[in-house]
Amino acid sequence: MSPTLKRLLAFLSDGQFHSGEQLGKALGLTRSAIWKLTKQLTEWDLKIESITNKGYCLPGGVSLLEKAKILPYLTLKQQDALELEVLDSIPSTNDYLLNLTISPHMLSKKVFACLAEKQTQGKGRRGRNWVSPFAKNIYLSLLWYFPQDPSELSGLSLAVAISIVETLKVFGVSQLGIKWPNDILCNNQKLAGILVEIKGEAHDACKAVIGIGLNVRMTNVDEDTINQPWTDLQTLTGKIINRNELAGLLLNKTINTLQRFQEQGLKAFLKQWQDFDLTFKKPVSILSATDSYQGLGYGINEHGHFLLELKPNLIKSFPSGEVTLRFALPKYN
Ligand code: BTN
Repeated sequence: MSPTLKRLLAFLSDGQFHSGEQLGKALGLTRSAIWKLTKQLTEWDLKIESITNKGYCLPGGVSLLEKAKILPYLTLKQQDALELEVLDSIPSTNDYLLNLTISPHMLSKKVFACLAEKQTQGKGRRGRNWVSPFAKNIYLSLLWYFPQDPSELSGLSLAVAISIVETLKVFGVSQLGIKWPNDILCNNQKLAGILVEIKGEAHDACKAVIGIGLNVRMTNVDEDTINQPWTDLQTLTGKIINRNELAGLLLNKTINTLQRFQEQGLKAFLKQWQDFDLTFKKPVSILSATDSYQGLGYGINEHGHFLLELKPNLIKSFPSGEVTLRFALPKYN
C-alpha cells in the first residue's frame, strides 16, 4: 500500500464521514485525486461509502496492526529475541518465512515472526486455500529452529492449538475446543487453524514455520469461498477486538509454547489437551485414502497421534498427516 493511501486510510479509520475537501487539504491533494484514491481502497477489500455533501466513510472503521502496539504484550526477553515484521500484503506469511535465508547461528538465537494484513495466496492444510481479506483477521507465522530431528515434531501443531485456545480465554470466549489435530472450533464452527511446515537441516536439526490463521471479523466475505462452517471472534464476543492486543498475546503465548515444546515435547501438554479435546468419548470417523474407521475418540498419545477406540479395549492410533477426522453418529465397528 502506498504511503499516501495509508495516510488516507488513517483518516478514514475512525468510521466517520470526512469531506473530500477536508481530506484533500490534509493530504495536499485535489478532491478528484482523493476520489481516485478511495477507489484504490476497494482493491484492498475495503468498501468506502460516499455521500454527496457528507464525503467519504469506511463503515465500521478499521484498526491496523502496528508493531509498536504489539510488542508491549511480550516480555522484555521475548522482545529481545524477536524479529517481527508487519506487512500490508504478501502471498503467504508461511512461504515468506520458509524462503528467508538466515544463518543457522542466527536462527538458533532469534525468533522470526511475520504478520500480514492480507494474504493473496493464504494456505490451509491439505492444499486448501485460507481466505485472508485485508485488516480483518490474524495471519501470523513464526520461524523456530529446533535442535532435534523433524520426526520429534509430530505433535507440535497440537501444542500450538492449545496456546491459541489459552490466548482466547482472555477475550472471554467460552465453549472453545480443539478438533484433532488442530482445528479451533466453537459450536462446531471453525475459528482458527494452524499450518506447520518443516524443513530438515543438517545434523538432525530442523526449522519449522508455524502459521496461525484466526478469524476476527469476517465481514463481507463471499460465503462460497470457504468450504466449512466458520465463525469469528467479534461474532462470538459481541465486542470490537483489538487485533494488536490479540497478536501480542498470541505471540507471547506461542513463543512460550514453542520453547516448552522444544525442551519437553508434547508430553508437557497432554493434560491441557484433555481440557480442550472435543472428540474425547465422542463418536467419530477417521478417513484415510483407502479406509474408514468408526469409533469413539480416546485422546492422543505423546506423539500427537489420534487414539480411536474401535470397540471396548481395542485402540488404534493414527498420525495426523495421513487421515481426516469427522464427527459421526454413535456406532461401533
Ligand atoms: C488450516 O487449514 O486450518 C490451517 C490454516 C492456516 C492459515 C495460516 S494464516 C497464516 C499462515 N500463512 C498461511 O499461508 N497459512 C497460515
